[in-house]
Amino acid sequence: MDPVPLLNRLFDEQARPALRQMPGAEYRPQLAEILYVAQLTETEKLFRLRLPEPIEFEPGEFLEISVFGLGEAPFTIASAPVPGDEVDVVVRAAGTLTQAMHRLKPGDTVGVRGPFGNGFPLEDFAGRDVLLVAGGMGLITLRSLLLGILAQRARFGRVLLLYGARSVGHYLFRDELLAWHRSGEIDCRFAAVNGDNPWVVTRGDITHLFKDLDVIPERTTVAVSGPARMYRSLNPLLFRLGIAEDRLFLNLERHMKCGLGKCGKCRINDICVCESGPIFPYARVKHLKEAIER
Ligand SMILES: Cc1cc2nc3c(=O)[nH]c(=O)nc-3n(C[C@H](O)[C@H](O)[C@H](O)COP(=O)(O)OP(=O)(O)OC[C@H]3O[C@@H](n4cnc5c(N)ncnc54)[C@H](O)[C@@H]3O)c2cc1C
Ligand code: FES
Repeated sequence: MDPVPLLNRLFDEQARPALRQMPGAEYRPQLAEILYVAQLTETEKLFRLRLPEPIEFEPGEFLEISVFGLGEAPFTIASAPVPGDEVDVVVRAAGTLTQAMHRLKPGDTVGVRGPFGNGFPLEDFAGRDVLLVAGGMGLITLRSLLLGILAQRARFGRVLLLYGARSVGHYLFRDELLAWHRSGEIDCRFAAVNGDNPWVVTRGDITHLFKDLDVIPERTTVAVSGPARMYRSLNPLLFRLGIAEDRLFLNLERHMKCGLGKCGKCRINDICVCESGPIFPYARVKHLKEAIER
């Protein structure tokens, strides 16, 4: 018998109320069961988790997920921002922890803490056109925002997604995005740097999708999510389009440890990214050249 679930169950039954009041309880992972696993691309898998308790979160918030004996890392919640005890995360096999996660099967358990951070304020997008700009794995964060928008589609204007990846094979949730595009719920435009293009995509990086872009800046709110180097070229393009600074939200990727604002690992100057972000209004981080101009 696996001793970890047994010990955790005993601990939960016998020590939980006291522990919850002790300093440091926020560092203790709870067990979550893997309900479902799907291979999305060669390197990314989707995991559906059943959490020990229902949670509420905004799109862009993240969980700290651990595998016993191997470590813990942050993963964005990829599912719709509705209260509940089931969430999806997408994991790219990068190093020791994530490769071990890729070997897990339905019925296995992982440790979970969170949700942590600040996400996209959905209400700031309501009543407006929405421009979503995703680079690579940045789509994971925007999927949660997109699902939140689609759940109340009538409250939002036109929704346009620009999605850039290394190649067609690297697109996440490609079929889902194409289905929404075909049904007219959103307008998706794709760019890929390498490889064959078996369906209609623009060859090149995501900036190529800004050529003759048809948005009405005064009524558009923008969410951008991708690697830090993307912001250097994208932000000027967005401002040239006429997007207002206070209508632009960015997802800042940083290496993190505690997720709680305590260890300082994610700090950039005066900003603790895990606590105040990872989603920020542009105005709040525009002075952080290290974060948005790399
Ligand atoms: C807020 C946040 C949300 C994240 N969401 C996701 C997600 O939804 N899906 C996902 O697959 N990954 C996500 N990541 C990155 C994920 O946490 C790392 O890939 C993970 O720590 C790798 O652990 P590892 O032990 O497998 O690899 P390691 O051996 O620790 O690292 C492998 C490689 O990944 C790089 N890496 C590690 N952490 C990060 C990071 N934070 N940003 C960029 N590169 C990193 C390392 O530099 C190294 O090159 C997120 C990170 C943050 C900070
Ligand atoms: S990860 Fe520890 S302070 Fe942000």
